[in-house]
Amino acid sequence: MSRILLTGATGLIGGAVLHRALVAKTDAEWVCLVRASDEEAGRQRIAARLGRFTSALNAQRMAQRVEIVAGDFTKADQIADPRLDSVTQVLHLAADTSWWAQEKVHRTNHDGTLALARRAARMPRLDRFLHVSTAMICGGKPPAMVDETRYPDPDAAHLVHYSASKAAAETSLAAGFADLPLVVARPSIVLGHSTLGARPGSSILWVIRACDRLRLVAGSRDGTVDIVPTDWVADTLVEMLARPALAHGTYHLSAGTVSRTRWSELGCTLDRVDPAEGPRHYEEFSARDRATLHRRFTEVFGMDEAIKVAMFRALQAYYRFCELDVTFDNTRLLAEGFAPPPALSEYIGRCIETSGEIVDQFREDFGGFAGAPVRGEQTARPRPSQPDGVTNRTVARRGSAPG
Ligand SMILES: NC(=O)c1ccc[n+]([C@@H]2O[C@H](COP(=O)([O-])OP(=O)(O)OC[C@H]3O[C@@H](n4cnc5c(N)ncnc54)[C@H](OP(=O)(O)O)[C@@H]3O)[C@@H](O)[C@H]2O)c1
Repeated sequence: MSRILLTGATGLIGGAVLHRALVAKTDAEWVCLVRASDEEAGRQRIAARLGRFTSALNAQRMAQRVEIVAGDFTKADQIADPRLDSVTQVLHLAADTSWWAQEKVHRTNHDGTLALARRAARMPRLDRFLHVSTAMICGGKPPAMVDETRYPDPDAAHLVHYSASKAAAETSLAAGFADLPLVVARPSIVLGHSTLGARPGSSILWVIRACDRLRLVAGSRDGTVDIVPTDWVADTLVEMLARPALAHGTYHLSAGTVSRTRWSELGCTLDRVDPAEGPRHYEEFSARDRATLHRRFTEVFGMDEAIKVAMFRALQAYYRFCELDVTFDNTRLLAEGFAPPPALSEYIGRCIETSGEIVDQFREDFGGFAGAPVRGEQTARPRPSQPDGVTNRTVARRGSAPG
């Protein structure tokens, strides 16, 4: 029987994973490592997250079916709780997804992941440690098509500290835990839910809606962004846990060439599903052209509240990711029979239907944008304890990263 330790169950993807797993009613046991004062408080946090997918009553019932270990994954190596000893699979989703808080994200995402790996090394029945990284470890200058073999690259110039910390974690896991049954999943940009739309969370959805509302595309209108829905990522991760064997050690969970989003096509879809805001004619600009973005943003949203100023800065950083025009190859995943993701154009209508104001949706990601660098600061100083082989050379302004 599977006994799965899940970190990050109170987060966007973790909640979707748990909901999907509990709906399936397999005989797998789920143990959630949750930050909480005690088990009951942890259970209530899980129930609150599950409540985004189902009724409050159902969510409470589902939450009763999981075991809770109250704790911090960054100190997992100090958790003696014997319930962890019988774990057969770890799904490690927990992370600090803020973009600019350099020391904190490194401590959590790199040092914390290694602490969890040390605890996992003491789990005698463990047959898979599924570590969720991000395709954005490619940094700020990827080729147009990225496959799983090319990164992490110690010379990658990262746009944000977050992706540098995730790259560092991958590097150190590979270097220091040769005996761990490690598989790395790298989602691209996770946005919306293919049937529930924005209900489970509006993280990053506000970015697409804001770009659309501003009618500004960074780079080319024919450029693409690699976006996948939360539920597809959750389904894929659950299936990756269930598969007795996987051919590779690293997989992109990405849209790939078939399902990636082209701005010009997205505009046509939005004209159809959201005609009140149409017709769309996106103007192309450079993500470094702060003046154009500032002017347009002020006209459309205003700059009259602190939240809008924060949203402007976050959007400025997101535009740099959008301008990368990069596709993450998902051939490995599809070749092993995993279902392909739907394209954003297939479910953006559902996201719009279930959406409120764009600025309110940004609030969900707001916490990820703390610690903005001083204006004009583009390059992070190397950390004194820089992880082996990882360069934070070009950490951009601030934000809550795609992935
Ligand atoms: N969302 C994307 O677009 C995307 C794309 C690619 C990869 N990813 C990766 O997917 C994973 C999940 O992302 P997400 O969007 O679901 O993140 P999220 O919504 O920000 O959730 C983060 C989760 O990590 C938990 N966490 C953080 N620090 C913790 C700690 N010290 N101890 C225990 N739990 C801790 C949080 O718990 P609390 O509730 O206690 O804060 C929360 O459950 C991350 O590894 C991320 O890098 C995400």
